[in-house]
Amino acid sequence: MIVASTRDELAAARKDLRGRVAVVMTMGALHEGHAALVDAAREQADSVIVTIFVNPLQFGAHEDLANYPRTLEDDLAILGDRGVDLAFTPTPEVVYPETPLVRVCAGPLGDVFEGASRPGHFDGVLTVVLKLMHLTQPDVALFGQKDAQQLAAIRRMVADLDVPVSVVAVPTVREPDGLALSSRNRYLSEDERQTALLLSQALQTRDPVAGRALFDGTPAVLDYLERVDSTSFEAAPDGDLLVIAAKVGTTRLIDNLPLHDLSKHKDAP
Ligand code: PAJ
Repeated sequence: MIVASTRDELAAARKDLRGRVAVVMTMGALHEGHAALVDAAREQADSVIVTIFVNPLQFGAHEDLANYPRTLEDDLAILGDRGVDLAFTPTPEVVYPETPLVRVCAGPLGDVFEGASRPGHFDGVLTVVLKLMHLTQPDVALFGQKDAQQLAAIRRMVADLDVPVSVVAVPTVREPDGLALSSRNRYLSEDERQTALLLSQALQTRDPVAGRALFDGTPAVLDYLERVDSTSFEAAPDGDLLVIAAKVGTTRLIDNLPLHDLSKHKDAP
């Protein structure tokens, strides 16, 4: 596996990649959810690039940018074991030589649900995803169903801005007890880890009202549990996706469950 951290190193290594090229973009602190994206990428393409970059642009002023877990050595070992061809591990200065004045705007998709609690978050995500697509020049890019609103915003950006990249979604990877894998799970105490099961349990009811009731009298603070249209993220009683966010201690967790064609989705909690 080649590890590139500058634009020149990336361009040189990219030139030598053969056939169809897939990219998996991550912020590191890799777990089995990321690994599932890498495995899916191997199936989709001849060569696989993984980017590891904690993107300052998508963190709010009061969010955990400084404390976001950084485990580069372990991450590179995982990627090497999984047969990744090229890892791109830039610093913020490499990605943003100057603070970008021009950014991608997520539009209405960026204002609701996760966007409502995290103003500017999806603009920051889309801006770095588009930059990383330009830098890595993939044929296909893989994203997790776990971050369903992010996936919807990226699909919409690719369509609206004619980005010549196929977007492929990968089902959510869960712990045996249903908890969706997340880099933020490592912040949870043992008690909080148990409380966090409420998210997948609420989704399993497949019903917002019944799911919300599970949170009554618990230490978790539910932000939203709603049925939405999975492409527009507009709330809809017959929407095809159930989305949830809750705070457990100081850790904000999200999860979702596709409701239609359940047989086609392997990611039921
Ligand atoms: P990060 O949170 O590191 O996630 C990287 C990719 O892994 C995303 O596509 C995410 O949806 C996927 N992923 C995370 N947990 C997963 C799980 N349990 N099952 C399946 N896939 C999972 O998402 C980001 O980074 C950033 O916003 C990024 C797209 C890299 C832009 O900075």
